[in-house]
Amino acid sequence: MRVGVAKEIKSQEYRVALTPAGARELVQHGHDVLVETGAGVGSAFEDDAYERAGAAIASVDDVWSQAELLLKVKEPIAAEYGRLREGLTLFTYLHIAADEPLTRALVDSGITAIAYETVETDRGALPLLAPMSEIAGRLAPQAGAHHLEMPRGGRGLLLGGVAGVAPGRVVVIGGGIVGYNAAVIALGLGAQVTILERSVDRMRHLEEVLSGRVSLLMSSSLQVEESLREADLVIGAVLIPGARAPKLVTREMLQEMKDASVFVDVAIDQGGCAETSRPTTHHEPVYTVEGVIHYCVANMPGAVPITSTRALTNVTLPYVEAIAERGVAGAIRDDPVLARGVNVLGGRVTYEAVAEAHGLEYTPLDDALAAAVA
Ligand SMILES: NC(=O)c1ccc[n+]([C@@H]2O[C@H](COP(=O)([O-])OP(=O)(O)OC[C@H]3O[C@@H](n4cnc5c(N)ncnc54)[C@H](O)[C@@H]3O)[C@@H](O)[C@H]2O)c1
Repeated sequence: MRVGVAKEIKSQEYRVALTPAGARELVQHGHDVLVETGAGVGSAFEDDAYERAGAAIASVDDVWSQAELLLKVKEPIAAEYGRLREGLTLFTYLHIAADEPLTRALVDSGITAIAYETVETDRGALPLLAPMSEIAGRLAPQAGAHHLEMPRGGRGLLLGGVAGVAPGRVVVIGGGIVGYNAAVIALGLGAQVTILERSVDRMRHLEEVLSGRVSLLMSSSLQVEESLREADLVIGAVLIPGARAPKLVTREMLQEMKDASVFVDVAIDQGGCAETSRPTTHHEPVYTVEGVIHYCVANMPGAVPITSTRALTNVTLPYVEAIAERGVAGAIRDDPVLARGVNVLGGRVTYEAVAEAHGLEYTPLDDALAAAVA
């Protein structure tokens, strides 16, 4: 199969969908890999690294027009809509339930679009989202520690303390992938860490893997209020699948917090878990409400493309290889996990939530496949 790798043109996106190591795997299996000029530069992969791996470097026009399978990181932006076409399979983060123009462009073009974020295991895990949660979780204490420094406007506290001086207190709300990773790094910095969770099973698991090094508390409105009063850094990491984040932190609770403490709301991409949260960018990451510094960057992993690119491609490559080996129809017939990623096929919307969001007709994947073959 001819596999294309497009350069991301969305502002502040430096990741790339395939590493030279991934390109070599594909080439060794007999596939052609076409990489757009400069596609890997933001992730520290020069064109010649891809060439040494056996890939060809090509122009944007050639990559989009010659590929059978096109790999990207972010959804196509309006300038790329004209490049969507029948016969092409696009594999990328799409998030089209919130993007009607793109959904229509995908449907009208006849393309097959597989979204990283809806590739889902039988147990409901999202393997192609998980690495970004790991990274955002690990970045959160780092961002918090930075903004706790006085020159940044923070209270002027070192999270780890020193001998004879107490460490800072970190409260993590939500002990899922983000919360666990945030706790690990906060512990590593020497902070005193509390995780608020509402799933008892998850707390048992955290107790086991963190060997009692964190306090685990049942999350309730009262507990959030009490924990926040003591905190130097609060990390919002809750998720209710398919819903907006619950507003667990109120303005009144912030008023009770220490002056110039920091709140990192990782859940901002689902609306944030404080009443006062609104999305910010890496360019202007923080603002202050009720004396509490809010860090609400919606694409935290974008700050560390070298790590993010590798973490993402580690998990996408097996699916890329499956599509390249068996063809898109074969690969999705063989693997229900990948099949759940298909959002649009042959002019039909095959992902129910997307169809519902835009009032479009939903076609079950099997029917869309049968119609496409007929
Ligand atoms: N800002 C970014 O760049 C970025 C990057 C990656 C992920 N995220 C977001 O971070 C959030 C967390 O993602 P995740 O992968 O850790 O999800 P996850 O499903 O692994 O974990 C969420 C946890 O929240 C817990 N929870 C739900 N309601 C709660 C409540 N009321 N109190 C306490 N805990 C509660 C759940 O039991 C679960 O353990 C999501 O909104 C995700 O989209 C943001």
